[in-house]
Parts: sequence; C-alpha cells; structure tokens
Amino acid sequence: MNEELFNWITIGWMFIAIIVIPLSLKLTAPYGRHTRKGWGTMIDNKLGWIIMELPALSMVWIVYSFGVIKDNQIVYCFLAFWSIHYVNRTLIYPFRIRTKGKKMPISIIAFAILFNLMNGGLIGYYFGNFASYTTEWLTDWRFLLGVTLFFIGMGINMYSDNVLINLRKPGETGYKIPYGGFFRYVSCPNLFGEMVEWLGFALMTWCLPTLSFFIWTVANLTPRALDHHKWYKEKFEDYPKERKAVFPFIL
Ligand SMILES: NC(=O)c1ccc[n+]([C@@H]2O[C@H](COP(=O)([O-])OP(=O)(O)OC[C@H]3O[C@@H](n4cnc5c(N)ncnc54)[C@H](OP(=O)(O)O)[C@@H]3O)[C@@H](O)[C@H]2O)c1
Repeated sequence: MNEELFNWITIGWMFIAIIVIPLSLKLTAPYGRHTRKGWGTMIDNKLGWIIMELPALSMVWIVYSFGVIKDNQIVYCFLAFWSIHYVNRTLIYPFRIRTKGKKMPISIIAFAILFNLMNGGLIGYYFGNFASYTTEWLTDWRFLLGVTLFFIGMGINMYSDNVLINLRKPGETGYKIPYGGFFRYVSCPNLFGEMVEWLGFALMTWCLPTLSFFIWTVANLTPRALDHHKWYKEKFEDYPKERKAVFPFIL
C-alpha cells in the first residue's frame, strides 16, 4: 500500500471516531458499574479484559514485523513505550482488579477488539513501512514534550487505577468515594491520565495513526467519564461538589 492511500484510510478511521462521539454521549457503555442486561452473552470480567486488550499488544508487533523498516532504533523505542502500557493493561491489570463474580458483555469485547486491531494495525503498519525518524528527532520539542506527557499520563493513569483497585478489600465488589491524588480535581483521573498518555505518544511519534488513536481514546473515555461522574453524584449525597468529571477545572 502506498503512503497516500494509507493516510486516506487513517483519516477515514479518524472521522469515524468523531462521528461516534455524539452517539457515545447518548449511550452509556455497558461495562463496569454500568453493566446491564440486553447486550448479549456475558463472560467473566477479568477474562474479558485480557481478550479485548491482547490484540492491541500483539497487533502492532505483528503488522510491524511484516514491514520493511527493521533498523530504526527510535521506532523500537516507540514500540517499547506502547508495550509497557499494554503489558500492564493486558497481563497485569486484569489480575489486580477486584471484580469477583462480575461479568462483561461480549458485544463490548467485540467492539474493543475491532478498535484495538484497527489502531494497532495502523500504527504497526506506519512504523514498519513509512517511519523515517533520525537521531535529530530525539532533540525535537515534539519528541521531548511527547515523552514527558506520555510518562506523566501513564503515572496519573496507573496511580489512579491503583487507588480505585485498593478501595475494595479482596472479595468486595461495591463502590466508595475515591480521594487523594488527581481525585481532588476529577472523578476519573485514570481516564484523564490515559488521554494525556496517548496525546504524548501522538506528539512524540508525529504521525496520523497515533493522532487517530488519541482521538479515538478521547471519543471513548470522555463520555465514559461523564457517565461515571453523573453516577457518583446520584449515588453519594456527600460527593465532593467542586470535583469535575475528567478535565481538571474544565469538564
Ligand atoms: N484507551 C482506551 O480507549 C481505553 C478504553 C477503556 C479503558 N481504558 C483504560 O482501562 C482502565 C480501566 O477502565 P475503566 O473504564 O474500567 O475504569 P473504571 O470504571 O474507573 O474502573 C477501574 C477499576 O476500579 C474499580 N472501581 C472504579 N471506581 C470504583 C469505586 N468508586 N469504588 C470501588 N471500585 C472502583 C472498577 O470496578 P468495576 O469494574 O466493578 O466498576 C474497576 O475494576 C483505565 O485505566 C482506562 O484508562 C482505556
């Protein structure tokens, strides 16, 4: 495939993300606290996480390995950053969450697999066929700012996921109000951190597929954070009033 065709496919995929935003603002994604019947067969929540995130971890590497670019060390650095995130999300996070007995609909898993195959495939294809980073890129402001944002975002995401996991004692499945860290400002700092992380990745890699992945992440996580925030305010009378949903001081 030539680069022009590849870019058009990526732009098309990006537009779908933008079209999906008003739809997902209306529809609450039925997993986690919003799980409900009517979305098809349900499977174990932890297994669901592993199955739906495995394509993200593997697809980038598989598609990359079929490409022609094999000697760009900067690409390996990007692949390593991607893998750090997805090894945690696929192989560590599902074994840490305390969701005993909880289930997830297969329809959500199917959507996530499609999302991960497409994004992972586009990113792997770009890295394997069109990437042309040179050592000068390592001192470019986009690379430096991107790496900084990526690790700040990852730190906020992992720290906040950890706070949420530890709200429950082993065997518990209920909900409590989270405090501390970025929870001072927003209800969903884990989702905010994830968005900052992929903004950083898009900046440091400066290409269409990672920009598209960032837009898809915002399209998925902003509506979910708004749903969580509304749910918290309805469930807890003493929920902190000054807290925003996901973007500190803004939304
Ligand atoms: N890149 C993307 O597009 C994308 C998409 C989805 C998720 N993610 C990432 O995947 C991770 C999980 O996402 P998520 O939407 O499932 O996060 P979440 O709803 O905040 O849940 C995270 C975990 O903490 C538990 N939990 C949340 N709030 C709690 C509370 N108040 N009290 C007790 N336990 C609580 C949840 O249990 P329950 O499951 O029982 O609610 C779940 O096990 C996040 O880091 C997110 O950024 C990324």
